[in-house]
Amino acid sequence: MKMSELSTGHLLGIRDLTRSDLDLILNTAVEFKGVINRPIRKVPTLRDVTVANLFFENSTRTRLSFELAQKRLSADVVNFSAASSSVSKGETLVDTVQNILAMKVDLVVMRHPHPGAAHFLSSKVNVPIVNAGDGTHEHPTQALLDALALKEKYGAIEGLKVAILGDIRHSRVALSNVLCLQKLGAEVMVCGPATLIPRHFSSLGVRVEHDVDEALAWCDVANVLRIQLERQGADNRIPYFPSLREYHAQYGVTLERLERTGKDITIMHPGPMNRGVEIASNVADGSSSVILDQVENGVAVRMAVIYLLASGLGG
Ligand code: CP
Repeated sequence: MKMSELSTGHLLGIRDLTRSDLDLILNTAVEFKGVINRPIRKVPTLRDVTVANLFFENSTRTRLSFELAQKRLSADVVNFSAASSSVSKGETLVDTVQNILAMKVDLVVMRHPHPGAAHFLSSKVNVPIVNAGDGTHEHPTQALLDALALKEKYGAIEGLKVAILGDIRHSRVALSNVLCLQKLGAEVMVCGPATLIPRHFSSLGVRVEHDVDEALAWCDVANVLRIQLERQGADNRIPYFPSLREYHAQYGVTLERLERTGKDITIMHPGPMNRGVEIASNVADGSSSVILDQVENGVAVRMAVIYLLASGLGG
């Protein structure tokens, strides 16, 4: 596989990527999707590369799909989980990573609860850093796999109307999706209670809507985000809306709401889902849902990202 180069040596956020970078990653992912659907789902491309996956925050999809992506590329993989590491003894992020790099690791994938953590790390070490989600800031590979799901369904993303619904305030998926979709030519709306949409979103050139029925009437695609219960506030109290029942009644994406639009709206959700809160089960599992396609695309997109960044490694 002969590819051109990314304009950046790290993947810290969609903000840093050009349109050409996005096209290169998505086109490379399409090639790798072919690989992972073959009887032999592995290529020897990164036989000499060692990758460390550093997860300072919980994950199912991102962590497993990064690891699978690296293994499908034949890279050596080490996994690190903050809960079972010396971070709990007070070691700093930079010390932890420098020690891991001293074991001859070539590339780092990191999820961290603090916005900017991946960017900070990239200024302290000299290996490519991939941001697997930094707090409420960015989750670039999620936006890329979402874009691939839309590209597969619609052929092109230009002109698509995508509504991102839910807890925008606590989401890293929202910002990465807005930036990615805009760069690919989609129109984007965010919708949720005013308390869950930060003011700065209106300066990003997105439509802001507080009525979910209006949002569904407008969009071709609804990307439903979960209520991030763990980030709502002290003692898990929810200061942004009265109750989960109230939230579901006002903002839950239900079959009844979708049927009222008279349209076939594509349903996305990055997971993990709160069934019966932001999305009804029969919507999540319905024929318009591409939720499991998103997950499948995660492996191909992460193979593309790791492959393209590793192509820039010396030697
Ligand atoms: N979509 C996503 O990031 O899921 P995980 O938190 O399970 O990785």
